[in-house]
Amino acid sequence: MSSERPTLLLIHGFPLDSSLWTPQVEALSTSYTLLAPDLRGFGTDTREVPEVMTMEQHAEDLKDLLNERGIHRVVLCGLSMGGYIAMAFLARWPDRVAGLVLANTRATADDSAGKVAREASARDAIERGMAVIARSMVPKLLAERTRRTRPELKDLVETMIARQAPGSAAASARGMALRPDRSAWLAHVRVPALIITGSEDELMPLPTSQAMADAIPNAELLVIPEVGHLSNLEAEEAFSDALHRFMQGLTSLTNAAADPG
Ligand code: MLT
Repeated sequence: MSSERPTLLLIHGFPLDSSLWTPQVEALSTSYTLLAPDLRGFGTDTREVPEVMTMEQHAEDLKDLLNERGIHRVVLCGLSMGGYIAMAFLARWPDRVAGLVLANTRATADDSAGKVAREASARDAIERGMAVIARSMVPKLLAERTRRTRPELKDLVETMIARQAPGSAAASARGMALRPDRSAWLAHVRVPALIITGSEDELMPLPTSQAMADAIPNAELLVIPEVGHLSNLEAEEAFSDALHRFMQGLTSLTNAAADPG
């Protein structure tokens, strides 16, 4: 990575699209090569979506994208479902990953009640539509303070969810229900990792992030105060600065390895 600009692959959460990463693209694209694709069926992506879209299948799509672009190694940064996909990618193609950023996510699998809830939300998306899902999800995605002080973010996230295709949301909801428990696997992560979360994330409470940071051999934990599940939007500067520092740390590590003096 010392001779080329590191590539940062940003993987969005559920049921969102690549525009989630607008603040990071704006802050970091002059320093790094950034890829922030729409996952299959989300945003403007028009690929056919199977009934169940597993995290492994999303990871395979991303590997194909890297191959198309001739990019071998990347730093993966996934938020929530994007984190599940980043872990699936790293587990399968470890030599293609230089660093791992896991934001507002967890390594554990869904329990049986969680799996039932996934099927219900898949059916809800199809039968009631994404606008209904959007209204019910936003209070869980953004911290109370964000909703009160930044109504424009509430509108932005509601609109982002409402425009997703119901079939794509249903497929990924069903896929998330099938993801494995990767808690024990974390001990085998060999790349530097940064775990980011918001102190007010209701969906991924702090102990889940702490557990990942404790389990990965070379991990750092950043808890952003008064921020909820969408930490990269709610605290765009703190999130982008942390990514920037992490990327710089990786570059200097690689340079030191290439030139031990
Ligand atoms: C997400 O933000 O991607 C979802 O909340 C993840 C999940 O439902 O497990």
